[in-house]
Amino acid sequence: MRWNRSLIPTLRDDPADAEAVSHRLMVRAGLIRQLAAGIYVYLPLGHRVLDKVNAVIREEMNAIGGQEITMPVLQPAEIWQQSGRWDVIGAEMFRLKDRYGRDMCLGMTHEEVIAWLASKEIRSYRDLPQIWYQIQTKERDEARPRSGVLRTREFLMKDSYTLDPDAAALDRSYRAHQEAYCRIFERCGVRYIVVDSDPGMMGGSGSHEFMAPSAAGEDDVALCAACGYAANVELARGVPVTPSAPWSAPAEVATPDARTIAEVAAQLKVDPALTIKSLVFMGPAGPLLALVRGDHGLHERKLARALGAEARPAQPEEVRRHLGVAPGSIGPVKVSGVSRVLADESLREGRYVVGANREGYHLTGVAPEKDFACEFADLQVALPGEGCPRCGKPLTVERVIEIGNIFKLGTTYSEALNAVYLDESGQQRPIVMGSYGIGPARITAAAIEQRHDADGIVWPWAIAPFQVHVVPVAVKDATQSAAAEAIYAALGAAGFDVLIDDRDERAGVKFKDADLLGCPLRVTVGQGLVKEGIVEIRERATRRDHKVPRDQVLDAVKDIAARLATT
Ligand SMILES: Nc1ncnc2c1ncn2[C@@H]1O[C@H](COP(=O)(O)OP(=O)(O)OP(=O)(O)O)[C@@H](O)[C@H]1O
Ligand SMILES: [Mg+2]
Ligand SMILES: [Zn+2]
Repeated sequence: MRWNRSLIPTLRDDPADAEAVSHRLMVRAGLIRQLAAGIYVYLPLGHRVLDKVNAVIREEMNAIGGQEITMPVLQPAEIWQQSGRWDVIGAEMFRLKDRYGRDMCLGMTHEEVIAWLASKEIRSYRDLPQIWYQIQTKERDEARPRSGVLRTREFLMKDSYTLDPDAAALDRSYRAHQEAYCRIFERCGVRYIVVDSDPGMMGGSGSHEFMAPSAAGEDDVALCAACGYAANVELARGVPVTPSAPWSAPAEVATPDARTIAEVAAQLKVDPALTIKSLVFMGPAGPLLALVRGDHGLHERKLARALGAEARPAQPEEVRRHLGVAPGSIGPVKVSGVSRVLADESLREGRYVVGANREGYHLTGVAPEKDFACEFADLQVALPGEGCPRCGKPLTVERVIEIGNIFKLGTTYSEALNAVYLDESGQQRPIVMGSYGIGPARITAAAIEQRHDADGIVWPWAIAPFQVHVVPVAVKDATQSAAAEAIYAALGAAGFDVLIDDRDERAGVKFKDADLLGCPLRVTVGQGLVKEGIVEIRERATRRDHKVPRDQVLDAVKDIAARLATT
């Protein structure tokens, strides 16, 4: 590709609204432009990168027997009503009506369409197993689109679906996907961790997330270096050490003006780990109390799992109305107006400070279960330093970007949409399904998050927009220009993706842009050629320079490429 005839609008300065590194660099390197919140145009270079990521995904999906199909973005409400998700999913789904007033939606995912298709096309056990996949646009009205292409409202997803006769066969399809995913991320040059995850609104019996460590992520995973345990903190259960309490029975103490855990702990001169945070949530049966240790955070997904339903934090005015006390004084002892009291597992042992349900007072020495009735559940966010649930060694917690997600769905969707088959004995059974997603844009952004420096992107070989960036320093110099053109043509003929910067620009501008774009190799044709017949090949990642006679450039690039393509 020739720079002069291309749309590569690089920018000197960071866009004002961009925080994540990948967001800044993708805008500055001319890969993307934002049309509206969470809606992006991919410019030619951005498009090239996505295409390369998609090519890797296609190869690996085809290698495990995946068959590519294309399913519609525009979908009728009926299939979503049949699965029950029409009502379960809220504002995240774009809904619309057609000209006859029929309910329609834009696909956020395609389990329903797949189950519908399977119900029409799969007859017998002889038709199974199947792997169907697509690389298709998804529409989700995300609450907080952010970080450039990491969380957008319209995005490309590779989604695949497996159809199997039974659970054992699903296990095999699932493992094949897990292995294919590892190869995809490795080939794309993204560092990742595989973790246990919560199936959430997908339902089903098991799921894993593929997480790329990065500060720009929105998820946290708990990791154990000793035994390899790895789980999303939504699911991870750290084992905290129970601090020993100085009390043996409950007593009421005055805590004037102390409302927060920090204030109460400071006034009573106790470790915040010896206090209990009492949080009021509005659940399916009205207000309920959720208790976690003062130094812990409550994870709302964990609470939802314990309840089997969503719950939201109560407003201060709801707390006053239902419980009859101010939010800073709530406690589980003799509390009124709540239907349930759920306490985190870590509170099974020990005595703690709790609110007294009386303004300005707390109770010390309160033992859960002995001094008030409660149900125990896993509610707390796992913290670094807590014990690994498998081996007890300390956990670490790392920020990550979710780049892929795989689910064992089971028969939820096939039963709802009547996707059945006849087994060997002629008996009708529901098809056992799996669902598997990857976000090509997140792979792209994660690769940039993990591989960049102060000057720009440092692309992995496999997904770089171009592998080689040829820079004639002075295009007006006929010798330089002719040599650069010859090298550009020879590299292209040899199968490399090459960009030539044929602009009549200052060398400084061209070098800065080359660093920003981050192609793995830069071939500079300048004074060295005129004086000594030498061309310079620079590796972007290490800035290692190779001075090569002009007629050996192709061989040198091939050598370096062979090395870079495998790292
Ligand atoms: N809003 C989005 N923008 C870009 N990519 C996305 C978005 N939502 C999901 N993806 C990508 O699609 C893949 C599969 O989608 P899935 O429904 O499992 O995501 P998700 O669990 O909703 O992700 P998240 O928890 O980050 O919202 C994700 O692993 C991610 O790579
Ligand atoms: Mg989501
Ligand atoms: Zn461990």
